[in-house]
Amino acid sequence: MPQPLNPADPDFARNPYPYYARLRAQGPAARVELANGSHAWLVTGYRQAREVLADPRFSNVPPRGAGRPKPDSAAQRARGLLARHMLNTDAPDHTRLRRLTVAAFTPRRMDALRPRIERLTAGLLDRLTGRLAQDGTADLVDAFAFPLPVLVIGEVLGVPEADRDALREWTYRVGSPADALEPGAVDDAWQRLHAYFAGLIGDKRRAPGEDLFSALVQDVPEGGLDDGELLAMAFLLLFAGYETTMNLLASAALLLLTHPGQAELARRGGDGHWTAVVEEALRHASPLEGTTWRRTVEPVDLGGGVEIPAGASVLVVLAAANRDPEWFTEPDAFRPERYLGGPEKAAPHAAFGHGPHFCLGARLARLEAAVALPMLFDRLPDLALAAPPRQLPYRPGLLVRGPRRLPVRRGPLTLPQGRATASAS
Ligand code: HEM
Repeated sequence: MPQPLNPADPDFARNPYPYYARLRAQGPAARVELANGSHAWLVTGYRQAREVLADPRFSNVPPRGAGRPKPDSAAQRARGLLARHMLNTDAPDHTRLRRLTVAAFTPRRMDALRPRIERLTAGLLDRLTGRLAQDGTADLVDAFAFPLPVLVIGEVLGVPEADRDALREWTYRVGSPADALEPGAVDDAWQRLHAYFAGLIGDKRRAPGEDLFSALVQDVPEGGLDDGELLAMAFLLLFAGYETTMNLLASAALLLLTHPGQAELARRGGDGHWTAVVEEALRHASPLEGTTWRRTVEPVDLGGGVEIPAGASVLVVLAAANRDPEWFTEPDAFRPERYLGGPEKAAPHAAFGHGPHFCLGARLARLEAAVALPMLFDRLPDLALAAPPRQLPYRPGLLVRGPRRLPVRRGPLTLPQGRATASAS
């Protein structure tokens, strides 16, 4: 019998872990029935998650017809073109796209962004401090976790600063359900994003900058990325890079605000401790709850009496794999010390995926968090939550996970009523 699953349920969005734990106990994969009536298989164990992500029988190519442009709509056409990116491909197409992209995303180029990230963070913290002084409270998602990754992706893409607000607005709109905004707003944003990136590629060809995207446009050995691939790549970087990192910053800040002792240890412990905090936040509050959907190209026997038929939709739930008790002791507890390299050496978390599609921006995401979190807590050591953690709204859905709002204030380190339990935060 498939298990019912309603990803729009606010309680599930806030704390999906007990549900996933039940599925994990049932076997290597469980069949669920989503609220819209469709069926899917969820993989929740750590070992099985990694096996599935490395197995070519699980394809990343969306089924024919999904997200395809309707011939009569410019917005749908734009959307279809932007969706032709490497996360939606399998080998050998994926291998070629990935090779060319990795060549531009060198560690040196990513590390060179550190001073810019520091300056952008300092600017946001100036404004946050001012707002807290003026209003008494502020939303940490709106003032810090959301704008920083958008600004950093702006650096990666070499987008002029004046255009970043518009990019932020369009990205927000295309990530929202069409009925949540005024009619036509989502379609309009697809077209604007498409037109903007087409223009950007032309600009980079004429006048390349120091940014990573210029390197992708310019470093074109024989058979490099064509304009269509560059367009989709710009979109993928924007989409893969901002909401994930936003959730990491927001969830890590929430964990530290609800575990003030850990915040204090990190502030005293320096860089090594902050690295451990970031790794543990990635494990404990995986910003990408599930990977993108996979589809079986043939029947797959996962053992334990579970055979997934051909053509089935499969979701690898990273948030669940990262709390597998067979791999992580006290999986629901936030314990950065497990990544401090002491006698307890935890397994690497799976928050950046595994196999051929392993996150291309992992180094950059870690860098952003390792710069921004210490700056936040050094500048505002008395930062405190201004709402009970159990009442914070979470984004619905199975793809990304993180608090949508994080009201904070300055004040003594007392927790508001309803302190988050380890599993809920
Ligand atoms: C905390 C932040 C981030 C997390 C948790 C994260 C996580 C992931 C995961 C799990 C995947 C694999 C998805 C799948 O297999 O379906 C992925 C892929 C990818 N990520 Fe990230 N990501 C983050 C930040 C970034 C950033 C900052 C960038 C770019 C600057 C980026 C670029 C990409 C790209 C291009 C892919 C596709 C790789 C491929 O298909 O080969 N990510 N990410």
